Amino acid sequence: MCGIMGYVGSGKASGIILNGLARQEYRGYDSTGIALRCDKEIKNAKIVGRVSELVKLVEKMPREYLEARSGIGHTRWATHGGVTVTNAHPHESEDGMVILVHNGIIENSREIRADLEGRGIKFKTETDTEAACQLLAHLYKGDALAAMTELARSLAGAFALVIMFRDRPDEIWCARRGSPLVVANSDEASYCASDPTALLEFTHDLFFLEEGEMAVLKPGGVSFFGFDGVPRDKAPIHLSWDSIMADKGQYEHFMRKEIGEQPDVMRLTIDAHTDVTSVSMEKSLNLPKDIIKRIRRIHLVACGTSHYATLLAWNIMESLDCEIEASVDVASEYRYRNVHGGDDTLAIFVSQSGETADTLAAARLARSKGTHCIAITNVRGSTIDREVENTLLSLAGPEIGVAATKTFMGQIGLLALLVMQILKDRGVLSANDEARIIGSMRTLPAHMDSILEREGEIRALAEKYAGSRGFFFIGRRECVPLTMEGALKLKEIAYLPSEAYAAGEMKHGPIAMLDEHLLVVALVPNTDLREKTLSNVAECRARNAPILLISTEGDAEAREHADDVIYLPSVERELFPFLAVIPLQLFAYHVARTLKRDIDMPRNLAKSVTVE
Ligand code: AGP
Repeated sequence: MCGIMGYVGSGKASGIILNGLARQEYRGYDSTGIALRCDKEIKNAKIVGRVSELVKLVEKMPREYLEARSGIGHTRWATHGGVTVTNAHPHESEDGMVILVHNGIIENSREIRADLEGRGIKFKTETDTEAACQLLAHLYKGDALAAMTELARSLAGAFALVIMFRDRPDEIWCARRGSPLVVANSDEASYCASDPTALLEFTHDLFFLEEGEMAVLKPGGVSFFGFDGVPRDKAPIHLSWDSIMADKGQYEHFMRKEIGEQPDVMRLTIDAHTDVTSVSMEKSLNLPKDIIKRIRRIHLVACGTSHYATLLAWNIMESLDCEIEASVDVASEYRYRNVHGGDDTLAIFVSQSGETADTLAAARLARSKGTHCIAITNVRGSTIDREVENTLLSLAGPEIGVAATKTFMGQIGLLALLVMQILKDRGVLSANDEARIIGSMRTLPAHMDSILEREGEIRALAEKYAGSRGFFFIGRRECVPLTMEGALKLKEIAYLPSEAYAAGEMKHGPIAMLDEHLLVVALVPNTDLREKTLSNVAECRARNAPILLISTEGDAEAREHADDVIYLPSVERELFPFLAVIPLQLFAYHVARTLKRDIDMPRNLAKSVTVE
């Protein structure tokens, strides 16, 4: 939620900040703004709209501001206060001393505001952020460190703050609690941003601020402090991502580019964690075997698409062995439940961003109970990576499209292997199952390539059905998580009503909705549940709903049950979802494209959900 950027150095701040904001725009994009410094003067430019429009506004600023050597910028996902130019960041204190951008929610902003208004300070906006801005100006008496320390003590809630003091020309201050902030320094310049992808073109050595840390950026370097004002030494983390990886290349949308990268994600995952026909995660999994053997229950916890990845993992675990009790929960519920914890419990938290507020809170709860924790994330240096003792990094590279695609693939690849490693360490994974699944996994990348080559077929189906009034995704067992993912993709990028149901549940209510305007997308691989699922499909067909089947190659009879069929290569049944997700992603993508939706930045959404 919200992308922020700060720069001080010898380069042109306007271009560097605008470019950094554009790279982070997926984090929030309802309004945007920049503040640029020229000596002691600081000028703000803000708009309701996208960074591309802010660029035009900045071009009209007086020349000296275009040449400015420092500034801060923000792209907003509104929480407190409507989407207006006044509420857009940066915010400026009444006395003009403090100019600030913020990501997060200041929970005691009303109390702070009431107190400051009582002292005669006039507020201009409806935002929670302005309370932090006015309070900092009120606290600042010429000593920035003292004022920042006092501010951090006074604020409740989550914040990443980036700040300019009008009388401190060569400094940018920043502070973090609850919202991500990454800092870097190179060639007489210092930078900060919400997301590492904004800084990769300058350096790959990044300093991730910890909870309760702040920093002052100067052209010659960065100094770090705790919220108590005590200086801290920090070592950079090297991020191997390439800035090119965060570019769209020849593609119209990041989402389409990222869908196409999934075969490589699977290849990398398999290469990193397997040996011919066996799983070998020992090097990356820093959890002693005796702990794994002691575990009596496993909690799988995540949000959104990452949650569906955990449902798939749960399914694989159940398919391979039932001796261990495993449960799946969304993080927003887990964090408030009286869940079991302790030495006999392993909790696995999955978050591509590593910054989802609910998942972080859930992980903190588990850790406080002494539960063994593993995080699966795509972002090295992210909060979950730093807070959880064991991290497995998914190998998807930076994902920019708001809709998760290749990170899902990275997650399910890792989760499948992790599940097998755990069962193997406990001595309950049969050699046959291990070889069967790993052998089949190795065929996935080539199969994925072949599905991507058939994009035209899927695009034609998407165009045919884009006018449907709604969509039902149905399937059984291993396909149920995918029905949810298929429906979510359509909701988030095409804004169309779409529901996911275990196929057997349709007759318990949802079937009443069916008619010729509602498409049923049925996942029917050639498994022991094929006939059962086809019966449910027939029930839908009898209510005049058009049917799109996703089936296994060779099942010629499937055509008799559907208006259209997408055939997928045959793989072990646990892995069918790994292939089926690709046509579902492409289908949603092409429906959204047909309807001319803003695919990479769908309305009302943000890629990292760093508020509760
Ligand atoms: C997926 O397309 C969504 N953007 C969303 O559901 C996402 O998966 C969810 O917010 C969790 O994000 P995380 O993996 O970064 O924690």
